[in-house]
Amino acid sequence: MEPITRRGALTLGGLGLAGIAVGGAGLLWTSSSATSVQVEPGGKFAEPSELRSAKGLLRARLDVDRGTVLIGGHTASALSFNGGIPGPTLRLKAGDRLGIALHNGLDDPTNLHVHGLHVSPQGNGDNPFVMVEPGESFDYEYLLPPEHPPGLYWYHPHHHGFVADQVFGGLYGAIIVEDPVPIQAARERLLVISDITMDGLGRVPAASRMEQMLGREGELVLVNGQVNPRLTARPDERERWRILNTCVSRYLHLRLDGQRVQLLGVDSGRFGAPKTVDAIVLAPGNRADLLITMVGGTGVLRTVPYDRGGPGWIMGGGERPRSGTPAGHASLATLTVAGESVAAAPEVPVQRAPRDLRGSAVTARRELVFAMGMGGMMGGGGSMMSFTINGREFDPKRVNATVEAGSVEEWTLTNASPMAHPVHLHVWPMQVVEAAGRALDGLIWQDVVNVPARGQVRVRIAFDDFVGRTVYHCHILDHEDKGMMGVIEVR
Ligand code: C2O
Ligand code: CU
Ligand code: CU
Repeated sequence: MEPITRRGALTLGGLGLAGIAVGGAGLLWTSSSATSVQVEPGGKFAEPSELRSAKGLLRARLDVDRGTVLIGGHTASALSFNGGIPGPTLRLKAGDRLGIALHNGLDDPTNLHVHGLHVSPQGNGDNPFVMVEPGESFDYEYLLPPEHPPGLYWYHPHHHGFVADQVFGGLYGAIIVEDPVPIQAARERLLVISDITMDGLGRVPAASRMEQMLGREGELVLVNGQVNPRLTARPDERERWRILNTCVSRYLHLRLDGQRVQLLGVDSGRFGAPKTVDAIVLAPGNRADLLITMVGGTGVLRTVPYDRGGPGWIMGGGERPRSGTPAGHASLATLTVAGESVAAAPEVPVQRAPRDLRGSAVTARRELVFAMGMGGMMGGGGSMMSFTINGREFDPKRVNATVEAGSVEEWTLTNASPMAHPVHLHVWPMQVVEAAGRALDGLIWQDVVNVPARGQVRVRIAFDDFVGRTVYHCHILDHEDKGMMGVIEVR
């Protein structure tokens, strides 16, 4: 048994007196439960409900509310879209129109972002500057271009200052854009991975300042809102797994030992042919599109420690994010492969390769420097650290980057801090062309690109199809809420 760690104590501290009383009554999941929950596989694997487009259109209503939901078989008080964690999966095709009526039943403002979709950021499109006040509704409308890449995307709130709390509290859901030519598989599964912390009454405690600085990581890692669900398959079956990391800050370093795992692509970037992999790292916001060929026996989908650094030099502390420590290890799902084997699945058809910007003329270059520093103390005991891009904190009224429509830019993403920052740009995906000073040979397109501590990554972006104002930011949503976000205007 492990006593409540310093981090656990900080979590309790964040609850105030009432929370401490609850702590006294016993936490359902203390920090040591990260190991205890993986002992027993949980319930049968289940997926969120699904809403599909028909005849080029999907109209959906999303109600954001605080209420009672089931998490890992326990009653919890959390946030949800339409009462479910995750929210409903939206299944679309390229060229579709998606209309979402968002109703805010919370006491705080919120809004909606469709992460990774290549759609207009203007007006009632994927506009992160929209604010939906408590009790109000907003009608979003998104039109996917006919050439929209297939793959897994997602939706979540994006109101600056509330994003981490609202996503951590339960607000996330998947969006699937179907393949024009389906890839044959015995079945397709969606795994929405999130993390959460709950006290003995099933409430989500507020994050402490330290947790916000590190980027909060929950004590439980959930798959579709379940703890370590059970899956079954037959030998040689090929399954399609779509995995989404909705965690606010936790990197997922995934393994499925004993099974044949092939990666079709990450985010919207599909490879020409699948790559056989042992492990994949998904930063917050990333998605993996996988094919699993089943090998008889038991397989456990695990996340193993991933060191994303820590601000060791401040407060003299050795504080580390949870995922970088042994506590970062968790069993996410347990797979049993038994029965008669099936005939081998056919070859995967060649995928349409995305465009390669390495041969394109670059019209502008810019550098974004991600830094954490002492500061922000002036504002009456505000944050103890500043989180900046090029020395500035987010200001919705200031445009930090003005880009000419249709241009191809090369951005150098420089991390001047001792923690990794996963960098995300809305609307336009990024092609990674260089990492740690070395040119990449593969064709890699992502919308969240990890920039390691003190590291540097170069990306190219084609500002095609849309104009308007949107944002780029660190997808450790606590860092984003603290100001590590900039405004871009394409015109
Ligand atoms: Cu998923 Cu601006 O983010
Ligand atoms: Cu996004
Ligand atoms: Cu960050």
